Amino acid sequence: MKLSNRLQAIANFVPKNTIVGDIGTDHGYIPVYLIENKISKKVIATDISENSLDKIIQYVKLTKYEKDIDIRLGDGLETIKPFEIDTVIIAGMGGLLIRDILDKDKEKRDSITYFILQPNIATKELREYLYENNFEIIDEKIIKEDKKFYEIIYARKGKSYIAEDIYYEIGEKLILNKDPLLKEFINNKIERAEKILEELEDKETQKSMDRYKEVTEKITKLKEVLQEIEGN
Ligand SMILES: C[S@@+](CC[C@H](N)C(=O)[O-])C[C@H]1O[C@@H](n2cnc3c(N)ncnc32)[C@H](O)[C@@H]1O
Repeated sequence: MKLSNRLQAIANFVPKNTIVGDIGTDHGYIPVYLIENKISKKVIATDISENSLDKIIQYVKLTKYEKDIDIRLGDGLETIKPFEIDTVIIAGMGGLLIRDILDKDKEKRDSITYFILQPNIATKELREYLYENNFEIIDEKIIKEDKKFYEIIYARKGKSYIAEDIYYEIGEKLILNKDPLLKEFINNKIERAEKILEELEDKETQKSMDRYKEVTEKITKLKEVLQEIEGN
């Protein structure tokens, strides 16, 4: 089967021969792809929604992989046992939800070796959580699909330090890797931030003025990163 660019980029991060948990699997395309292409030995595909789970049950029935894909209903990591998986994929949800899923069950979280995380929003907050909770970001990638940017974070447990606060907003690995979409991604962030400034311009509440200052500072930092990558 052929995956979308986003799902393919997520699957590309999965280390070979690992046992994978795909939390919030929905359609189940990744589990089937990982087994079909002999990347994983076994996949536990979970979802909190019965409707979503029905989709994957029907889909897996059409394949010959029913014994390789274990389908489970439940919230976050509650569906897996400690040390049952070595890689977890949590993709296509908000960064705060991904953070909460990881944080809710620390024993299980800490029994997992590799984390492939693809937040749709609030990536900054997810990076903050990872840096504050002894994760090391090994790699990152930006994907553009249907005019929308997606950031994929590949992490493992281990100490790491952030050199500049702006790296919460723009993953440092994206800069080091010279990610092909990085310039476009930053320019898009600047455009969106400038629109926020326009909206705040006439407002005179303290909250609005503080927000104006904060967004202006963010734009300055984003432009500095842009200069840094253009200079390289
Ligand atoms: C937009 S879909 C993403 C599906 C797939 N992971 C992807 O990236 O294309 C989000 C899925 O996460 C599931 N979900 C949301 N919260 C969850 C939780 N706490 N535990 C497990 N699944 C969850 C939803 O039911 C939904 O099927």
